[in-house]
Amino acid sequence: MPQNTLSKVQIDSLSLVQFRNIARAEFAPSPRFNVISGRNGMGKTNLIESIYLLGALRSFRTSVRREIISQGERDAKISARFGQSLHGLSVEIQLGAQGRQISMDGKAVVPDGDYFRTLPMVLFHPGNMELVQGAPETRRRFLDRALFQADAAYPQLYRQYARALANRNTVIRRQPLDMRALVPFDSALAKLGSQIVASRAAFTAQLSQFFEEGVLEVSGGNRGAIRYRPRVSGDEAAFLQVLDAKRQLDVDRGYTTCGPHADDLDFEVDGRSAKKYASQGQQRTVVLAAKIAETRVLSQRCHRMPLLLLDDVSSELDRDRNRHLFLFLSGVGGQVFITTTHPDHISTSGERADFCVTNGALSSL
Ligand SMILES: Nc1ncnc2c1ncn2[C@@H]1O[C@H](COP(=O)(O)OP(=O)(O)OP(=O)(O)O)[C@@H](O)[C@H]1O
Ligand SMILES: [Mg+2]
Repeated sequence: MPQNTLSKVQIDSLSLVQFRNIARAEFAPSPRFNVISGRNGMGKTNLIESIYLLGALRSFRTSVRREIISQGERDAKISARFGQSLHGLSVEIQLGAQGRQISMDGKAVVPDGDYFRTLPMVLFHPGNMELVQGAPETRRRFLDRALFQADAAYPQLYRQYARALANRNTVIRRQPLDMRALVPFDSALAKLGSQIVASRAAFTAQLSQFFEEGVLEVSGGNRGAIRYRPRVSGDEAAFLQVLDAKRQLDVDRGYTTCGPHADDLDFEVDGRSAKKYASQGQQRTVVLAAKIAETRVLSQRCHRMPLLLLDDVSSELDRDRNRHLFLFLSGVGGQVFITTTHPDHISTSGERADFCVTNGALSSL
């Protein structure tokens, strides 16, 4: 089936109230390319952030709600109506001092694991250039964010694991230490941890196939692979054994040393670690191919084309890699939002709408 007949996440209308420097905006984007231009500091990334928040229910820039609400205001609101393939679904997120309220088609909801799968989105932004050289946490975040969307069971698994881990760490630090009190947390960590590792392993294997294709296409000959490096591999029993073997070390250090919270990914080019050996250009290829692979796996797993958010990436990629990016974008047929300070450098093919942001005010060009 050609990709562009796949259903897709498409925003038909977006409305923002008191979101960072955007006091109020009404936005009717094109179903294909939306190019948002404006000088530095005008609010382009803010707009991308608001759309991302609809899909991820969190920002990629901050975990502090107050920073997102316009300075001096008490709350912010993001509302969107999605297209036909989501039956005109409307989603509204209100952020205020009391917390966050989400409603779908006018009804308040507590989002479950299916929420993220319903609205898959892929964000590509300059921070992604850290994927290769950055700390393992950067790569774990990449993996987890994709898995939140690709696997309906993952969000709950992730939260339960994080809670069990925090509890185990608390018990480990308590004086006097009660080793028996660790037992229930060890079994919880082993059970949840082995499931997380299995989900990550399956996802990485799928991602690696698309990554290999992407690297080959962009580089014109290099062979790419993504290897998952779990800190603890194996089933629940093997996990328990590791926790047992590391117990004294964990107590000495004051935290749980082993588990998926310490996992990593290795991007490889021609069989060698990209972190250690890849050139600058090859690292850009890796990041581009990783984003392409993420989009492809999500469209397969979610049965719809994710919405694509590209924040100022053309400035991070050279001419040749930009060409590959736009070739990919014209092939997949989803809705795309692109921000740039130089709209004339963005060479899209197909339907395109241009918008301009000036001091938080959005206008059609
Ligand atoms: N909570 C807030 N209230 C009001 N203004 C805010 C808030 N948070 C950020 N801003 C303002 O938003 C602007 C930054 O917007 P944004 O990051 O979207 O710029 P940009 O157009 O992407 O710029 P660049 O091209 O440099 O990336 C800054 O002027 C900043 O002061
Ligand atoms: Mg920006």
